[in-house]
Amino acid sequence: MVKVFSKCLHITMLLIISMTYQSTSAQSRGSLKAIDLRVEYLENPIGIDITKPRLSWIVTSVERAQNQSAYQIVIASNPTALEKSADLWDTGKVISSETNHIIYAGKQLKSRMQIYWKVRSWDNNDIVSEWSDVATWSMGLLSFSDWEASWIGYDIPEEELDEDKELELAPSPYLRTEFDTKPDTKIKRATIYASAMGLFELRLNGERVGDDYFTPGWTDYNKRIYYFTYDVTDQIEEGANAFGAILSDGWYAGYVGYGRTLKGIIDGERNFWGNKIGLRAQLEIEFENGETQIISTVSELQRRINPVQAFNPQSSEQIYNNNDNIWLASTGPLRETDILMGETFDARLKNTGWDKAGFDDSAWKPVKWRANPSGIVEAYPGVPVQIQDELVAVARTEPSPGTYIFDFGKNFAGVGRLKVKGPTGTKVTMRYGEMLHQDGSLMTENLREARSTDTYILNGDKEESWLPQFTYHGFQYIEVTGYPGIPEIVAITGVVINSSTPQVGKIEFEGDLNWGGKAPLITQLFENIKTTQFANFVDVPTDCPQRDERMGWTGDAQVYFRTSAYIADVSAFYTKWMRDVRDAQLPYGAYSNYAPIPFQHAFDFSPGWMDGGVILPYMLYRTYGDKRLLEEHWESMTRFMEFQRDAAGENYLRPQGGQNFGDWLVVGYNTDKNFIASAYYAYDIHLMAEMADALKKYEEAETYRALFSKVKEAFVKAYFLADGELTENSQTAYSMALAMHLYPKELEQRGADRLAELVKNNGNRLATGIAGVSRLLPILSKYGYEDVAYSLLMQTDYPSWGYGVVNGATSIWERWNAYTKEEGFMDPTMNSFSHYANGSVGEWMFSDIAGIDVNKPGYRQFEIKPLIAAAPFSAVSAEHKSINGVIKSAWRKNGNNVTINVTIPTNTIAEVYVPAVSVDAITENGSDVTDVEGVELNRIEGRYIVFNVLGGQYQFLSNEAFEKL
Ligand code: BGC
Repeated sequence: MVKVFSKCLHITMLLIISMTYQSTSAQSRGSLKAIDLRVEYLENPIGIDITKPRLSWIVTSVERAQNQSAYQIVIASNPTALEKSADLWDTGKVISSETNHIIYAGKQLKSRMQIYWKVRSWDNNDIVSEWSDVATWSMGLLSFSDWEASWIGYDIPEEELDEDKELELAPSPYLRTEFDTKPDTKIKRATIYASAMGLFELRLNGERVGDDYFTPGWTDYNKRIYYFTYDVTDQIEEGANAFGAILSDGWYAGYVGYGRTLKGIIDGERNFWGNKIGLRAQLEIEFENGETQIISTVSELQRRINPVQAFNPQSSEQIYNNNDNIWLASTGPLRETDILMGETFDARLKNTGWDKAGFDDSAWKPVKWRANPSGIVEAYPGVPVQIQDELVAVARTEPSPGTYIFDFGKNFAGVGRLKVKGPTGTKVTMRYGEMLHQDGSLMTENLREARSTDTYILNGDKEESWLPQFTYHGFQYIEVTGYPGIPEIVAITGVVINSSTPQVGKIEFEGDLNWGGKAPLITQLFENIKTTQFANFVDVPTDCPQRDERMGWTGDAQVYFRTSAYIADVSAFYTKWMRDVRDAQLPYGAYSNYAPIPFQHAFDFSPGWMDGGVILPYMLYRTYGDKRLLEEHWESMTRFMEFQRDAAGENYLRPQGGQNFGDWLVVGYNTDKNFIASAYYAYDIHLMAEMADALKKYEEAETYRALFSKVKEAFVKAYFLADGELTENSQTAYSMALAMHLYPKELEQRGADRLAELVKNNGNRLATGIAGVSRLLPILSKYGYEDVAYSLLMQTDYPSWGYGVVNGATSIWERWNAYTKEEGFMDPTMNSFSHYANGSVGEWMFSDIAGIDVNKPGYRQFEIKPLIAAAPFSAVSAEHKSINGVIKSAWRKNGNNVTINVTIPTNTIAEVYVPAVSVDAITENGSDVTDVEGVELNRIEGRYIVFNVLGGQYQFLSNEAFEKL
């Protein structure tokens, strides 16, 4: 994800900077250090298009109890200026403890600018730190007129299509041009800006450009389409160069969702956004003498009608050979590509050298000019999809002669890399699956219409290696057929591909107290949650990575959001997807069931899903303190609320509407869908009021509060029995009503008691779907039923989280009973083994078992309140890197003693809950806790002594942790 400027230029820059450092550092002695500089959540991003970007950093200190009392940011257009007088922005000394989302307010930022910045912080004693390391960002193309390039594509002629028509899909177009760099001057920098209707892989002088997959990402292409920026200074040659791209249908024109399953039921199965894929790419070379050369995609027709500046009246005269380059196209070895279906690569057709200068392209044809897409072209705001890992199989079997199955030990998203040597024309087929049948053969029934097959046809000369590039699959197993000879265990490796959301959370459970050796199961459960999250975060938060679906379902995303944000930094990923959610908002105001939305006419909205449009921005605000997102989303959320208000009318309850999925995939009592719908409606209103406050829209906040009272009143009237019980006697109903603030204060405990009773009566097993389960444990423990919550967590009988784990799960399943060792599979038509929604218990692991929970948006204030007494573990250790720094909570119990090790980031404050009856029973690192720097007694709350703790590492020991009160 991290995009760093490379190149010798930058090495020189860093040298200058480090020399200057030495002269300034002697004067600064402050205890703080500013690290992890980010712009719009990204480290050293290139090609952003936000003209008032937000800057963030983390302050650390070796001293306890340190805070930032002031900061200074300097920003310059070149490294030298940064050291002398920052020419873009110098904030001077700003008295503030803020380190996040500082809005750039310097000189106007323009297209293509290179920007260098650093920051320093003053500590409690007003002593200034050294300057941070220099960070960078660059601006992309900010206006339409910056684009010289137009959209080009290739209409593949009949004769280049597969002759025997064996292949179902069309081959990938290859596009190329050659050019000479301007002579007599040196190259200073080269940058490519590129976008596609479809997917692109760029090639420059025989090499791939960048490490990203599935570019330019999935959006509603009618509304917006992203471009990516690459620094290619290292890849440009002086003199002759070749620049090209391979295109694929991708989400734009390929199979999306269950399009194929719905054939004949809805219009179309492919080409949801268009059937003509195309590329727009612009390579800009800056020279030492100040001149620029632009190589851009252009069609032959455009070249002929107006060779220079026809499409950019504002071009400066510095442009050297603007539209001189000729773009030609052909097909090549990539005979079929499709995200859901897979790829076919015929290495006999390998056009080696097509992406190098001097290639004979005389048989290639002119490219076609493509109409501009209607979507606005913007810089990609998220984190790209990239290769994360490469796994060697843990086992290889041969269930039938010549059919080999490689087992990668866990269920993930990606492709297989094939290494093979054999006679020309040999066809090796890789099929992907999540599970095996009892006879050891590959189970593919649950993929539905996703073919998930990659085929390689050998050229036959030497050892060949192939990595499919425009497809991915969700799998643990690859079945290989047609392999010449017996494949070595390393002949197929599992390449893990997903969005590069950096992992920021981990948790481990140790020891076992009266639970029959189940602690490792919970560690495995967490691993499964994490694996499933990464497997599904592929440009959008998909429901599953394997079958013909893989859609950004809003309901799954909202129930799981908090878990995802504990595990990974999802800030930029969700920034991107929230735009998709807005783009998918239906004309009448409801948020859609998924975003992007290819089947506008088929499925519309559902309670629990559409509410993601309100819940997610709120959760993002809580997690990252992001108010700009709230501002951007406000108008859209308001429209959604209007839609709901209108539907609810004077009844104040939300009527049945849309799909109304209810507590999707519930086992046991199916809670009334209208109950769920109205609870969500009330919850939205509650969150709207909080967000309105955050945006200082106090009147609107009041209006929402007043509306909330009305809805709550109507809700209580409709669904409450006289004694505080609910008409809906389900785990889901009680936990939702309590979590969504619908219980009258005085009845809350009564509701929680009833919930605990329901769980116990059900043998400490779950009876929920994806909506109910996400709130169950937090509510039980909030109202004192830690023991019941832990019993649910440790349960291994159906339905429970543990049931999957004891049945061999390496991921979270869509259904609680997807598979059993004895009985095999549930209904294969809807049975994904990689569905993160039911993994929402990951949130409780961090927020309650480790006890790390946000109190004020952005973790400037948070709590560490671990649930130790009833815990079936002897020790737990967790870590979460928040936007303000790394938080750690690790506890160990031994008899009546508990040790809690915590790390509180500098510049934050935590309430740490230590179980004890009296303060005297607690020491910190051997000292009297009342006499320790950074620790202050706050209050006694039930079984806990609560301390305010400032930045630093602490070890609390309580020797009466479980004494009776
Ligand atoms: C998806 C779910 C989704 C649901 C909505 C399913 O097909 O896989 O994750 O939320 O549909 O009902």
